Amino acid sequence: MLTITEAIKQRRSIRSFRSDPVPGDAIFEMLEAARLAPSGSNNQPWRFIVVTDQDEKRKLRKICFDQAFIEQAPVVFVCCIDLTAYAKASREKRAQEFIDFGIIETLSGYFADPKLWELMLNEPDSDLNVHFASAMANTYIAVEHIALTATALGLGSCWVGAVGTVKEMRDLFQLPPHTFVVAVMPVGYPVKVPPPRPRISLDSILLRPLAKRP
Ligand SMILES: Cc1cc2nc3c(=O)[nH]c(=O)nc-3n(C[C@H](O)[C@H](O)[C@H](O)COP(=O)(O)O)c2cc1C
Repeated sequence: MLTITEAIKQRRSIRSFRSDPVPGDAIFEMLEAARLAPSGSNNQPWRFIVVTDQDEKRKLRKICFDQAFIEQAPVVFVCCIDLTAYAKASREKRAQEFIDFGIIETLSGYFADPKLWELMLNEPDSDLNVHFASAMANTYIAVEHIALTATALGLGSCWVGAVGTVKEMRDLFQLPPHTFVVAVMPVGYPVKVPPPRPRISLDSILLRPLAKRP
C-alpha cells in the first residue's frame, strides 16, 4: 500500500483497462475511503452505485458522451449527491452529533453562538436545490478518496465529469427525485500508466509569494 503522498504523485487518469476483475475487497476499500471523507457540517451528501454489469456499463458509456473506457473498466462508480442530506431531519441529526461529540464546545466566534444553531435547526426546508453546489463540492472530496485509494491499491481510475443529462441518468438508475449524478469513476487495472500530465508551477498557484521557501 502506498503512502498518501505517493498515491497523490502516482495517480493518473487511466483510460485503458485490463479485463481482470477488481477484487471485492478493493471495491469495499474504495467505498470505505469515500465514506470517511469530510463534509461541511458532516452532512455526507454522497451516494454511490457500483456498476459491474456489462450492459449497464454500455448504457452508461453512451450517456457519458460515448467514452469507451467506461464500458471497458471492470467496475464503475456512479457518484451521486442526495440533497435530502440537507433536509431538516438530517440537519437535526447532525446538530445533535455536534453536541454529543463535544464539538460545540470547541467552536468559537460566529459558530459558537447558540442563536445561530437555533436558527439553522429551525430553518424550514426551502428549495433543496440551493445546496447543490455544496453537495457537489463535498462529494468530489469523497470521489477523489476513491481515486487515491485506487492508486494505492495498484488500480487506475479516471474522473468523468461529462455525465450526460439528469433525465438520462435518472432513467438508467431509477434515481430518487433529490438524487443527481455528479461524476462517474471507472476503475480497473491499467493497461499502462502514462507519464504525469504537466501542472502549472507552484509560483503560478500562489497569489502571494511564500515568506520562506523550503
Ligand atoms: C471534475 C473532473 C472531470 C473530468 N472529466 C473527464 C471526462 O469526462 N473524460 C475524461 O477523459 N477525463 C476527465 N477528467 C480527467 C482530466 O482530464 C485529467 O484529470 C487531467 O487532464 C489531468 O490529468 P491526470 O488526471 O492524469 O493528472 C476529469 C477530471 C476532473 C477532475
